[in-house]
Amino acid sequence: MNEVLQQLTLEEKVSLLTGQDFWSLPAIPRIGLASLVMSDGPVGVRGTGYAPDDPSIALPSPTALAATWDVALAARAGRLLGQESRRKRVHVLLGPTVNLHRTPLGGRHFECYSEDPLLTGEIAAGFVAGVQSHGVGTTVKHLVGNDFETERMTVDVEIPERALREIYLAPFERVVAAGGWGVMSAYNGVNGAPMASNGEFQDRILKREWGFDGVVVSDWRAARDTVAAATGGLDIAMPAMDNPWGPKLVEAVRAGKVAEELIDDKVLRVLRLAARTGALDGFRLPDPPLDEDGAAVAHEVAARSFVLAANDGVLPLTGNDLTRVAVIGALATDARVLGGGSAQVTPPHVISPLDGLRAALPGVDVAYAVGADPRPFLPAASGPSWGSFELDLDGYDFTVATGTVRWIGDLPGGCDVATVTSMTLRTTMSPDVSGEHLLAISGFGAFELTVGDQKLYEGSLHPPGTGRADLLLHPREQRFPVTLEAGVTVPVVLRQTFEPGMAHSVATTLGHRPPGPDDEGLIVEAVELAARSDVAVVVVGTTEQVESEGFDRTSLALPGRQDELVSRVAAANPRTVVVVNAGSPVLLPWSDEAAAVLLTWFPGQEAGAALADVLLGVAEPGGRLPTTWPRHEEDCPVLAVRVEGGTLAYDEDIFVGYRGWLRSGASPLFAFGHGLGYTDWSYGLLTVTESGVDVTVTNTGERPGREVVQIYLSSDAGTVERPARWLAGFASVSAVPGETVMVHVPLPDRAFQVWDGGWKTIPGSYTVTAAHALDDPRLTATISVAGSSPAAEAGRED
Ligand code: BGC
Repeated sequence: MNEVLQQLTLEEKVSLLTGQDFWSLPAIPRIGLASLVMSDGPVGVRGTGYAPDDPSIALPSPTALAATWDVALAARAGRLLGQESRRKRVHVLLGPTVNLHRTPLGGRHFECYSEDPLLTGEIAAGFVAGVQSHGVGTTVKHLVGNDFETERMTVDVEIPERALREIYLAPFERVVAAGGWGVMSAYNGVNGAPMASNGEFQDRILKREWGFDGVVVSDWRAARDTVAAATGGLDIAMPAMDNPWGPKLVEAVRAGKVAEELIDDKVLRVLRLAARTGALDGFRLPDPPLDEDGAAVAHEVAARSFVLAANDGVLPLTGNDLTRVAVIGALATDARVLGGGSAQVTPPHVISPLDGLRAALPGVDVAYAVGADPRPFLPAASGPSWGSFELDLDGYDFTVATGTVRWIGDLPGGCDVATVTSMTLRTTMSPDVSGEHLLAISGFGAFELTVGDQKLYEGSLHPPGTGRADLLLHPREQRFPVTLEAGVTVPVVLRQTFEPGMAHSVATTLGHRPPGPDDEGLIVEAVELAARSDVAVVVVGTTEQVESEGFDRTSLALPGRQDELVSRVAAANPRTVVVVNAGSPVLLPWSDEAAAVLLTWFPGQEAGAALADVLLGVAEPGGRLPTTWPRHEEDCPVLAVRVEGGTLAYDEDIFVGYRGWLRSGASPLFAFGHGLGYTDWSYGLLTVTESGVDVTVTNTGERPGREVVQIYLSSDAGTVERPARWLAGFASVSAVPGETVMVHVPLPDRAFQVWDGGWKTIPGSYTVTAAHALDDPRLTATISVAGSSPAAEAGRED
C-alpha cells in the first residue's frame, strides 16, 4: 500500500479524502483505483441515484431488527444489504446506526437499535459482519452522542466519562472489535469539541486505544474546519458541497498547519478500504453470489421482529372460523414501512396490511374502513381512478408508480444537476365519485398545478431563502378543492421548477383525497364495520411528520384521533387486535381495552404478508422489546430533549432506559425484553461455568416456538453505583411442544466491569438471572467473581 501512496501527489492524496460529489471519492486510474461509492442506509441500499426501474429492497427498521434479538438474523440482513450494495455498485454502506435510545422522543430512535449497549453492539456486529462478507464496507454511526436531533448540527453534548464508556461508546467499541471498516462521526459536539474534529474520540480512543484501522467519514456537511478536522482524526470529509478540504487542505499542508504524515495515514486508510472493497487493482472482488432473496429476508425479519405485547387468546386467528374481518386505519392501506430522512429507499413494492390479509384469507370478506386518518398530508395519488404517472425531467422521460417522486443525489437518467431546471408530472384522473375532490402538492421548490384547463396553483410552498436542510426535512403542503364528475377523465399536470443546482433532492407528492365522510363519520363507519365482523384489526401508528430524521418528537401520543378510534372499535367488538405501526414507542392508553396488541415497528416492504402470517399463526411473533415502552410519558427516566445555550447534559449518567426505570421504580407498560409468543416455556436448570451460562428450557405449550433467553446480572459488590440489573447476554432457542433444549450464553468479561478511569472488574458476589424479560425472571444463581476475571463458583436454579 505504501508503494501506491508514494506515487501520489499531495493534491491527489487530498482528493481521496474529499467527496467529489454527493456520494463518492474520485477515481485515480493511474494507480488502479476506482471511485469509492457510499450510500445510505440501514434498511436498504439507495444507490447513488434514483432509478425507477432499479428499486431497493426495504428491510424493517433497525428497531425491528433489534427486536429479533437474533445476531444470526442481523448477519443475514447484513448479507442481503451487502448483496444489494454490490448490485448497485456501492462500496460502503452508511450504517448501522448505534446511537442509543436515550429518550423515546429521539427523532431517529427508529433507526437505532436499543436502549441497551450490549444488545445494540451485538446486533450491529452481526449486521456489519453480514454486509462486509460481500466485500462491502460499513460506517457504524454517528460517533457519538447523536441520540437526539434537536440542534443536531451545533449542539454540544455533555456526557460523563462513565456513561460514555459503559453506554454510548460501547456499541462502537464492539463493532470496531468485530472488524468494522468504517465509522461515521456525528454532527454534534461532545464535551466541548465538534465530533468531526474531536481528536479525543476519533484519534485517541478510536484509532489508538481501540486500534481501529478503518476510515472515519464525516456526517454529511459535518466537517467545517479544515485544520481541526484534519488533526482531529477525520479521514474523509463528505460530500463535495461546502467541503472544507480539497484545495484548502492542500494549502494547510503547504503552510505547515497539517503534517503530511497525517495526510498519508488517512490516504493509507482510504486505500485499505479500497482494497477491502475491491476498488483497487490487485484486490478486485469476484462477482458476488446473488443468493439472498430480498423479499424473503424482509419477510422473515418482519415476522420475527413483531412483538406480541398483549394477547387474551384471540391470536392466532383461525382462518376457518372467519367469515368477515374488519381491517381499519389509514395505515392499513398506506403502511409506514420505513422511517423518514436519509434512511429512505424506494422499494420494488409494498404489501399493505390490507393486501396481506386479503391474500392470506381467500374466501373471507376482508372489509376495509379508514376510521381515522392521522396523515397531515394527503396520500399520494394512486389507484384505479388514476392513469399512469409520466415524468419529464428536462427531456428525460420515465414513469413512477404513484404521485410521489423522490431522490437524493444523482438524478434519474444521469441528468446533470447543474442544468436541470424543471420536472413535469403528467397523469389523468377519472374519478369514480362525483363531488369535491381534494388535490394537494407537497415538497419543496416552485410548482404549477393544472387540472383540465384550470390552473390551481403557481408559486413556492416555502418562503424564499429557506435553507437546504429545512427544505429537505420539512416539506410543506397546499391543498386545492376541485369539483369533478364521475367517469369524466381530466388531465392533471404538475410542473416543478428548480434553481440550477437545486434538483439534487426531490420529495414531491401529488396528493389526492376523494369526497367522503368527515372525521366523525369515518370513525362511525369503522365502528359499524367492526360490530358486524368476527374480528377487527386496527392499524395505528405515526406519520412522517411526527417521526423522522431531523427533529425530535414532541409527544409520544399517536397523532390524530387514532386512540379514540381504537377505544370505540374495541367497545364495538371484543375481538379487536391493534397493530402498532411505529418505529419507536408510542402511548397506548387503550391497551387494556384491546384483545391483543402487536407492535410491528416500520416493517419493511413485506409488511402485510408478514403481518398476515403472524396474525394467522403461520409464523410466531418472535420479537422482544429492545427498549422499554412507557405507560405515561412522565415516567420515562429521560424524556425531554432540552438544549440550553447550545448544550445538552446527560445528567442521568448511566441510568438510561431500563437502568433508569429500575432506579426510579416506575412501572412501564411493557418492560425491556417483553414479548409473548404462541407457546409457553418453563425454565429448568441454570448452570454458570467459566465460559458462561447454560440454561435448559422446555416448550410446555402446544405449538412449536422460539424463546429468547435473557441473562441479567446484579450485584452489590464494590462501591460504584450500578443499575439494579443489567443485560449480560442472550441467546435464542427453538423447540417443538414437549421438547427440552439447552442454550449456552457466553458472559463477556465486560459484564463484570465498570469504567473508573479504566475498565475495572468489581470482585464479589453476583446474581445471575435467566429471564423471559427484564420483569419476568425465571431462574437465578449466584457466582463469585475475583478482581481480574469472573470465576464461576456455583450455579443452580433457585
Ligand atoms: C445523516 C447520515 C447519512 C447522511 C447521508 C446525514 O444527514 O445524518 O446518517 O448517512 O446524511 O445521507
